[in-house]
Amino acid sequence: MVETVRTLPALRAALAGFKRENRRVALVPTMGNLHDGHLGLVKMARRNADVCITSIFVNPTQFGPGEDFDSYPRTLKADVEALAGVGCDLVWQPAVKTMYALDESFMVRVPQNLAGQLCGRSRPGHFDGVASVVLRLFNQVQPELAVFGEKDFQQLLIIRRMVQDLSLPVEIVGATTARASDGLAMSSRNAYLTDAERRAAPRLYAELDSMAQALAAGGDFESLKEAAWSRLAAAGFRPDYLEWRNAFDLGEPADNLPGRLFAAAWLGRARLIDNVPVAVSG
Ligand code: PAJ
Repeated sequence: MVETVRTLPALRAALAGFKRENRRVALVPTMGNLHDGHLGLVKMARRNADVCITSIFVNPTQFGPGEDFDSYPRTLKADVEALAGVGCDLVWQPAVKTMYALDESFMVRVPQNLAGQLCGRSRPGHFDGVASVVLRLFNQVQPELAVFGEKDFQQLLIIRRMVQDLSLPVEIVGATTARASDGLAMSSRNAYLTDAERRAAPRLYAELDSMAQALAAGGDFESLKEAAWSRLAAAGFRPDYLEWRNAFDLGEPADNLPGRLFAAAWLGRARLIDNVPVAVSG
């Protein structure tokens, strides 16, 4: 069984032990309800460090009014068992009062060029909440590296930018998106899908994938987007956005990131997101 700590003194005692043994600590931040995508991050952390700490905290500040904070699946017992199976060394499961100790919290404000587009546009304040909790987790755990998934690519970029801008002494490692065999990106929110919706869900990735190939072959973005949108709508999706961004649009040096397609769409109660690289520059 993996040890779970719930208070800062208990976390610090465990960290002091790792430090005495000169072990390199990696952190994998999560909101729990773990699937193979999360577990892949833990494996990646174990390959890059001696110790992997996984945090499980459903962070209230990154949910907007009317979003799914209350109904977000909480499956701690199964999560801890799954973590034991992939070599996680410690689970950090703080209380809300530990993360947000004041009645009115200090918050990170993510610059608008990063947070004002894609998911940040549809979910105002979301990335401020993400950055604010991740900064707290970094301060509490003081990991040498932290692993984030490309499934939430905008989040990964924003964390990288925050680390750079605030000179945080942590290395950020990105992990490719884990998918079900039919292509659907694994996500805790897939649990909201009915059986019929689950069968339709891989369509989002399928559209992105074929659009990326068509773009690489010189296709016109706007007409490809229109066709993909109407097929998605016919399959029951309510589109949120489908965008093509190059590295510069995302605040990255141009040679650091090829172009990418990003999409978000509602399917029933679930808001699905995905992204794929495009082989030509945007
Ligand atoms: P959560 O959605 O639980 O995801 C935790 C980590 O797992 C994130 O880095 C996310 O990108 C990664 N992940 C999720 N699905 C994945 C998949 N199919 N393949 C690869 N990686 C995947 O993202 C969050 O929590 C929160 O915003 C958090 C960073 C913990 C801050 O609260």
